[in-house]
Amino acid sequence: MSTTNFGKRGWTPERITSLKGKTYLITGANSGTGFEAARILLSKGADVVMLNRNIKKSEAAIDKLKRLEGADVCVRFIQMDLSSLSSVRKAAEDVLAKVPQIDALMCNAAIAQVPKQEMTTDGFESHLGVNHYGHFLLCGLLLDRIEASSGRIVVVGSEGYNMGLKTIQFEDMNWDGNYNPMNTYCHSKLAQIMFAYKLQDKLKAQGKRTKVYVCHPGASTTSLIKNSAGLRDRIIFGIMARTPLVQSAEKGAYPEVMCATESSEILNEKAYYGPTGLMQWKGPVGECRQEPHAQDMEVASKLWERSEKEVNFKWNL
Ligand SMILES: NC(=O)c1ccc[n+]([C@@H]2O[C@H](COP(=O)([O-])OP(=O)(O)OC[C@H]3O[C@@H](n4cnc5c(N)ncnc54)[C@H](OP(=O)(O)O)[C@@H]3O)[C@@H](O)[C@H]2O)c1
Repeated sequence: MSTTNFGKRGWTPERITSLKGKTYLITGANSGTGFEAARILLSKGADVVMLNRNIKKSEAAIDKLKRLEGADVCVRFIQMDLSSLSSVRKAAEDVLAKVPQIDALMCNAAIAQVPKQEMTTDGFESHLGVNHYGHFLLCGLLLDRIEASSGRIVVVGSEGYNMGLKTIQFEDMNWDGNYNPMNTYCHSKLAQIMFAYKLQDKLKAQGKRTKVYVCHPGASTTSLIKNSAGLRDRIIFGIMARTPLVQSAEKGAYPEVMCATESSEILNEKAYYGPTGLMQWKGPVGECRQEPHAQDMEVASKLWERSEKEVNFKWNL
């Protein structure tokens, strides 16, 4: 664990001077770390485009952001439901029509610990469909615009990558045989992380400028468990959230904001950024320890092929 480049306090938004003229896209930004990331970016003068599924909540989030950061901040939203590939395609079209520059696409939205197996409209197990396949397609559809902007993709992972199967269950991607709310969430977060490291390699091989960074928010007080998980997990997390083990949603946003804004001369693409304190749940933001299965490139290559087939999209790489 290391905060070498940022001192004892780790990375904080104080390092950002001005983001005037920069545009950031954040998925799932009407609550939790996504909302806090939007707020921090706006406070530094950036334009923020939220990609959210819920119109009413998005309007309320925009009102709140304007109350907090000033009526003149540049924040808007485009509707996108990651559980529907057609919605992702439509949102990407809207982005390409309305957002000429993308300095970073922050893949932040997620569902977690859904108590019983659920399917997306396209027939994917819901965690994998929303957290991985939806973002996989979105990133692919926006890559040319990000590349033209010399931009970045930031993948918000989770320490869960190391709490489940520790590999991809290719023989039963929908978990028909062994559905388990925690393992299935962890599977989707591992898939997201593996996708990011594989994408880096593909971009490099093609001489592209786009950077891809991987981070996680530690354990943060957000609506993640409250919104998707079952009663037992909601009670457990509700109790944990009252202990000093868990940090604020604002602190949870720091790693993704860092990955979106910090100099690429300082960041390392193969790193895994997040809180470096106890259990990597909270503490100064820097480079975290990561277990090798997250960068098993054989599994990552197989996942890439499977993902292209499932979402019916071939990347231009
Ligand atoms: N909080 C933690 O302790 C923790 C730990 C490890 C990793 N993470 C990761 O941190 C990221 C942010 O989560 P959070 O903790 O801030 O949770 P959160 O407050 O629940 O935020 C998640 C966001 O994702 C959105 N979302 C869910 N399903 C969606 C869909 N189908 N289409 C579009 N947006 C969708 C939600 O929208 P709605 O408002 O419409 O529900 C919400 O805005 C996630 O990637 C999560 O895996 C969090």
